[in-house]
Amino acid sequence: MNQITQPLQAPSELPQLMGKRYQIERLLGVGGMGAVYRARDLLREQFGDPEPWVALKTLNDSFARHPDANALLHSEFALTSRLHHRHVVRPHSFHVDAESQRAFLTLELLDGPTLDQIMASHPQGMPWAELQPLALALLDALQHAHQRGVLHGDIKPTNVMLCASGVRLFDFGLGQANEGLLSSLPKLSRRRLAAWTPRYAALELLDGGDLSKATDLYALGCVLYELASGHHPFSRLTARQAMRMDQYATLQKPAGLPAHCWPALRTALAFEPAQRQGSVEQLREVFGQPSRRWWLPLKRNRPTALPPA
Ligand SMILES: Nc1ncnc2c1ncn2[C@@H]1O[C@H](COP(=O)(O)OP(=O)(O)OP(=O)(O)O)[C@@H](O)[C@H]1O
Ligand SMILES: [Mg+2]
Repeated sequence: MNQITQPLQAPSELPQLMGKRYQIERLLGVGGMGAVYRARDLLREQFGDPEPWVALKTLNDSFARHPDANALLHSEFALTSRLHHRHVVRPHSFHVDAESQRAFLTLELLDGPTLDQIMASHPQGMPWAELQPLALALLDALQHAHQRGVLHGDIKPTNVMLCASGVRLFDFGLGQANEGLLSSLPKLSRRRLAAWTPRYAALELLDGGDLSKATDLYALGCVLYELASGHHPFSRLTARQAMRMDQYATLQKPAGLPAHCWPALRTALAFEPAQRQGSVEQLREVFGQPSRRWWLPLKRNRPTALPPA
């Protein structure tokens, strides 16, 4: 949970040249755990690379002091590296800056609004024609991650960007690999970090449970509902608060969402894991179906011209 009460802050002292190679140019964004900079890879530039820019992510000061800090960032790199998908950010490399002892990773430099910025310009929700391709890309990205044994763990609007080349899911910093995968990496207690955003966290996570495909499904359900309606399904409440207020019973289908998508989306938003029986694959399937809303029977034998007066 994002129980970090101080404002999000970039690291106070960061060398201008990281790993003797990456020239920091400017801050791109700060999250609860890290800060991301635009940097120039001087080595690639030296070899004439016309696009030597990368995104460089390091942990912010409060997380950098955490005993697991460097391992945590490496884990994000290892998880992201398992994925090869056009809608998942591409990782480049992991380093520890010798001078500052700061770990950092470099990634494909993304350029575009994050979904929270897109939502702000659609207060009534996105029209289906715009929402459908975006939702499908996001569902494809998460389906790929799950197929590769990676749970994202922190799906929310600020962790998805809409670039000129399409949607990108990023920030696997709270992610986890399936049991038996990446088993040589140190076991990290992500629960201790409690750095996810409560309103996208499934009930079982709030109760101290483990990440699962079903917890990712709940978070994605919240994001899709928010995109479709312009507001969070449970008035930005946590699943526990919303359950106490019985908000699931009164959940309405977003007006612009085709009716055939609603049962699967509603299931994804169930509080109890036993009720959240759907899967990302099923959601992907119904969101991919053509909308039947505008279907009209063809009128045959209709006169093509007005009869003579
Ligand atoms: N590859 C990238 N290219 C460009 N900008 C990026 C990139 N990755 C992240 N950003 C920007 O930096 C912000 C913070 O990045 P990120 O979500 O990875 O950090 P975080 O601290 O792990 O976030 P959270 O608060 O979700 O834990 C993003 O919201 C985005 O604006
Ligand atoms: Mg983030």
